Amino acid sequence: VVNGLQEKEQPPQSKPLFGMFNAIPRRYDLINKLVTLGLDKKWRDLAARECLGAGPRHVLDLGCGTGDLAINIIRRARNYVAVTGLDYSPAMLDIANAKAEEAVGRGKITFTHAEAASLPFKNEYFDTVGISFAFRNLTYRNPVVNFHLAEIHRVLARGGRLVVVESSQPQSGFIRWWYHLYLKAYVFPVGWLLSGNRGAYRYLTESASRFFSPDEVRDMLKATGFKEITYRPLLWGAVGLTVATK
Ligand SMILES: C[S@@+](CC[C@H](N)C(=O)[O-])C[C@H]1O[C@@H](n2cnc3c(N)ncnc32)[C@H](O)[C@@H]1O
Repeated sequence: VVNGLQEKEQPPQSKPLFGMFNAIPRRYDLINKLVTLGLDKKWRDLAARECLGAGPRHVLDLGCGTGDLAINIIRRARNYVAVTGLDYSPAMLDIANAKAEEAVGRGKITFTHAEAASLPFKNEYFDTVGISFAFRNLTYRNPVVNFHLAEIHRVLARGGRLVVVESSQPQSGFIRWWYHLYLKAYVFPVGWLLSGNRGAYRYLTESASRFFSPDEVRDMLKATGFKEITYRPLLWGAVGLTVATK
């Protein structure tokens, strides 16, 4: 499946979440900042640093949303690096384009409107694929999870890195209990009230509290063909930074 994807019939698209991501972008950044107390910026900083770790020439920010990881990578890069941001939500991409133009200048980042299950790129084109807070959407109870993983693997060069920053499951049962309470009693109402979209924030908080453990993510990546998988817990494991090599 990995390399033959283009020759086979087009995969199904993971449409169920699409309407939701096209409906919430207006206050998306503000809500993220409020529910993480501003820590989301720090977590993307760490991910951007990892994305640049092996001196890549081509980097993909997959599920780029409003473009923060892509912008962060361009700002940080010491040498030339071509950054592409991809998302299937035109509303998110509109914001990403405007933000990037202001932050780093017009045309510095290429934003692409596409579905992660059929990436419009050649095999092994990217040296790094970075995913900030979209990996859960691509994998958790997603009927086309295998297409998403196979596509990430296909577009990565041999030796290329996958960098994922995503919500995770704290190891300690005590912390996990508090974290799930915080999702239910704080993130859900704040997200719902500010976005006006109850369903979106119910999905986002429920999927976060049931999302895979670090070991389950590791197994999933191993089964896709990744190796040298490292995991770093952040905020007592409520969030995690995973780096894997093709
Ligand atoms: C929770 S947001 C994260 C956005 C951004 N990376 C960030 O750090 O804030 C998830 C993003 O992934 C995008 N997304 C989810 N599933 C996708 C898919 N199958 N194909 C392309 N984009 C997808 C959504 O439109 C949304 O912008």
